[in-house]
Order: sequence, then structure tokens, then C-alpha cells
Amino acid sequence: MKEWYDAIKEAQSVEKLEDIRISVFGKKGVLADAFAGMKNAPDNEKSQIAKELNTHKNELMNEFTAKKIILQTLELQEAMKAEAIDVSLYGTSSEAGALHPVMQTMDRIVEYFSSMNFAVKTGTMVEDDFNNFEALNLPKYHPARDMQDTFYFKDEMLLRTHTSPVQIRTMMQTKPPIRMIAPGAVFRRDYDITHTPMFHQVEGLVVDEEGKVSFANLKYILEDFLKYMFGEVEVRFRPSFFPFTEPSAEVDISCVFCKGKGCRVCSQTGWLEVLGCGIVDPNVFKAVKYKNVSGYAFGLGVERFAMLIHQIGDLRSLFEGDIKLLEQFQ
Ligand code: PHE
Repeated sequence: MKEWYDAIKEAQSVEKLEDIRISVFGKKGVLADAFAGMKNAPDNEKSQIAKELNTHKNELMNEFTAKKIILQTLELQEAMKAEAIDVSLYGTSSEAGALHPVMQTMDRIVEYFSSMNFAVKTGTMVEDDFNNFEALNLPKYHPARDMQDTFYFKDEMLLRTHTSPVQIRTMMQTKPPIRMIAPGAVFRRDYDITHTPMFHQVEGLVVDEEGKVSFANLKYILEDFLKYMFGEVEVRFRPSFFPFTEPSAEVDISCVFCKGKGCRVCSQTGWLEVLGCGIVDPNVFKAVKYKNVSGYAFGLGVERFAMLIHQIGDLRSLFEGDIKLLEQFQ
């Protein structure tokens, strides 16, 4: 009988234990056999043998029952572990999104001008001819309109070609003084390595009593701003033309790639053009019926800033929605 005690002790599963139960307690099991064999034993030993067999039967049954409880508990625990669902876990497939490099750059620009007390204004992307051109001293059929061909709707409505119409909207709605920027999307009929039909600009406008706003103020704030964006760069103002400013200037920074030595990106000039600016033309103030005021304005392309900050070669790649490319700028 000893081997059956060992067998029960060593059984590793409920299934194995069941096999043992049949072999020991079954109709043709060892105990049944042993009881049946008693008939051949001498009469005076029969009661002793029966007593021993019954003891074994009880003890084996106790061992069996105890072991069965242990094995069942273990197996239940294993099953629960395998089927466990942790409802507090996040799905593994979702990843956090991040800001597009153009929006990151825009935020940084807005951050600077907000710290300088500029209010943030927004206009509309579908504009009328008056706000986008006429009031900005760009009369109908003026050749300067050619540089800003856009997408037209009926009734002289169009997709704005720059953020400058927000200057007009703001001046029509509020009295001076004004100190504002206008970030937003603009549209032009352009498509090449440095132009996309939709891009972003940030406009700036400061207006106050006549004589209070000068080119010196404009120069100071733009130099400070460009150093905030690009670090220690040289800043240069070049005379230029915009219909809505007089005098006008284009602003260059020393090339961030070659530090001004001359390379492919700056066409060997050592300078990169980054924005346009000037003193607000009197005709613009006339259009919005402002009198005895002076002001300055500027406008910049956000994609161009992002390209220079992140050293991106082809502007169009910013709008292809390629996660692998965009992830590099997080
Ligand atoms: N609106 C001009 C452009 O899109 C930029 C500009 C804004 C220039 C304000 C001067 C003053 O090119």
C-alpha cells in the first residue's frame, strides 16, 4: 500500500489524482482486490486483515481528499492568473500626439510678443478684396497684386494672401493705441521647394499718437525678437518695397548654417531673409479713417522660421503628414 500513499503525495494535477483514485478505490481497484483476496486467508486472520485494510482505506481517502483540495486550489489560481484582465491598463497601441513643428514655432513667436505686451488677434481666412488689398494700398489692377495671386470666390471674396488684412480689421474695430500680432494660415498660388499654397504668417502692428512710434522702435524689437528665436545672429535691414509701408525694409539674419561665411542655403551671401516690415503708409491710415497717428508693421512666414530652426531642406515635407519625419522635432 505504501506506493499508493507516495503516488498521492507526488500527484501534480487533479487529472493524475483522479487516475489514482480509480486505481485505488475503483470497482477493480487495489482495495477491492485486497478485500476480495480475504476469502483465501485463514479464518483467524480475516478480522485482522479487514481491520488493516479499512484503516488503509480511510487513511488513503484522507490523503486523497486533502491532496485534491490543494491541487484544485493551485489549478484555480493558475487559471485566474492566465485569464486576468487588468482593466486599469491603457491600450498598448495608442501614443500621445505632439505639436507640429510649424505650430511649435508659431507658439514660440506668440510667446515672445505676448511677453512684450502684444495682443493676439485673428481675422478670417476667407477675406474680402478691401481688407486684403484695397485698404492696404493695393488698388485694383496694381501690378504689386501679381505677386500675391490667390484663390477667388464670387463677390470679390478670396483666400487671404497674407495676415495684413488683420491690421485693417483691428483698426476698423478699435481706436488707437494698438499693439497686436496676428498669427494664422494664408494662401497663395505657389508651389515649389520653398513655397506651399497654404502657409502661416505672423503679422505685427503697433499704432500710437503721431511721433510716438518710430523706425528705431521697430528695429529694436525685431532685433531682440530674432535673437530670441535664433540665438546670437547678426541682423541686417535692407531697403525694400511693400505697398502698405513706407519706408519698407526686408530683414536678414546671418546664415544659421554657415555662420555668415556663405553656403548653398544662403546662396553664398551669408544672409537669410526672414521678414518684411516698415512704417505704416499714410494711405492705410486714410483707408481706416485714423488721423494723427504713426505706426509700424511687420510680417513673417512661420514655415521659413521652422525650416531654419530645424534645418529642414524642403518646405513641402512639413505638409506630407509623415509621422517619421515629424517625430524628429518633438
Ligand atoms: N504682408 C507682407 C507679405 O506677406 C509682409 C509684411 C507685413 C511686410 C507687414 C511689411 C509689413 O509679404
